[in-house]
Amino acid sequence: MVRQYLDKPLPGDIVKALNERIEANNERHGLCLALAAGNSDGIGGMAKVMLSRTVQNYFILAGRDSAELDEKLGYCGADLMLYAQTLGLNTWWVGGMYSGRGALKNLGRRDVRVNGVIAVGYGKDQGVPHRSKSPAEVSEYKGEAPLWFTDGVEALLLAPTAMNKQPYMVRGWGDKAAISAGSGRFAGIDLGIGKYHFEAGAGRENFEWELQS
Ligand SMILES: Cc1cc2nc3c(=O)[nH]c(=O)nc-3n(C[C@H](O)[C@H](O)[C@H](O)COP(=O)(O)O)c2cc1C
Repeated sequence: MVRQYLDKPLPGDIVKALNERIEANNERHGLCLALAAGNSDGIGGMAKVMLSRTVQNYFILAGRDSAELDEKLGYCGADLMLYAQTLGLNTWWVGGMYSGRGALKNLGRRDVRVNGVIAVGYGKDQGVPHRSKSPAEVSEYKGEAPLWFTDGVEALLLAPTAMNKQPYMVRGWGDKAAISAGSGRFAGIDLGIGKYHFEAGAGRENFEWELQS
């Protein structure tokens, strides 16, 4: 999480790369994610104050409403956030203090639900690591945990979560894993973010997701 940004617009090639990544996510997951550049309409008043009005770009997390929408927004938002970081950018996930109406203005459509934005730009600093739970607090493996599982949990604990709650419990057995992310307003989004991070650490080819029993 970086809340102060340099007054430096995103160069054209960076905007192009981000838009390509957004399109790939939209096609694969049936979403309406978008990049808003050059305005802060989607960022809520309080967040603007915390940003000292420094950021002018953000990803809009949107899609047609469905039971899986929040999880998909979390999963794809994590992909965009980490991809942006590889391009030398920084981000701040704003799941509460955003303006859905302001964000919708940029989309030019009304048949979708916005559930958060991610501010993106060149940070004045690189942020600080969040306070973290231990692996034992968020995971359990039946028998001796293989490397893919411990690597997955390590990555999971790096994931940003709403109010830094890290509400995860991931269980593993054989080459299977199941994950939950608590309940409440941010549960679906945190679940998607957590799945993305666990997969990134564990390696998607090393295990299968099972439904939480
Ligand atoms: C789904 C989600 C919603 C969030 N909403 C807000 C928010 O409304 N306001 C805020 O200040 N931070 C918000 N955050 C930022 C988190 O507080 C932050 O990511 C967390 O404390 C972990 O810190 P890190 O991102 O530096 O690892 C949100 C993060 C996530 C993942």
